[in-house]
Amino acid sequence: MELEKLFENNRKWAESKKVNDEHYFERLAADQSPTYLYIGCSDSRVPANEIMGLEPGDVFVHRNVANLVNNTDLNVMSSINYAVRHLHVKHILVCGHYNCGGVKAAMEPKDMGILNPWLRNIRDVYRLHREELDAIEDMSLRYDRLVELNVREQCISVIKTTSVQTLYTSTGFPQVHGFVFDLRTGLLRDLELDFPAILKDIQKIYKLTEQDLF
Ligand code: CO
Repeated sequence: MELEKLFENNRKWAESKKVNDEHYFERLAADQSPTYLYIGCSDSRVPANEIMGLEPGDVFVHRNVANLVNNTDLNVMSSINYAVRHLHVKHILVCGHYNCGGVKAAMEPKDMGILNPWLRNIRDVYRLHREELDAIEDMSLRYDRLVELNVREQCISVIKTTSVQTLYTSTGFPQVHGFVFDLRTGLLRDLELDFPAILKDIQKIYKLTEQDLF
């Protein structure tokens, strides 16, 4: 049975954690202070903790279709706010992945119902980078590039939030990073976005504090 298997797996997992550390769950229950906030796609092939080799307690995770940071999405905004203001995460990782169905759907002239307004955010990313994308003739390479540019734009959306701006100006953290996971190799790639340069570039428009962000 599919569900019974889950509980059997769970019991084995809990036992395995206690083999080397009998107080493992007491410590886990006491508190959390993760170093990272991970914002990634809901895709079943991209398990956040597993691909980064992180344990329970290491990373605060938010996942949705196509790893979007939409400023009217109370869900992602709450996750960012909580992770930054209360958990004091040091790094925010926005992680996209190649072969992302959400990004693919946003490249096609197709009615996706309730997903239309959600995926329109990716169409907006396309519009912002239209020249670069249209110049890539190979459709699969264009698709890969849109995945990367989507990550970049979502990172910028993270920087636009008050919580990130306030904490960053006073402490230098959290820092935002754009990653892409390659399902074809299992490898994670850092897009090496220049966070201070991006901040400097957009602060005139988006800054919400008196202080300069950079
Ligand atoms: Co995806």
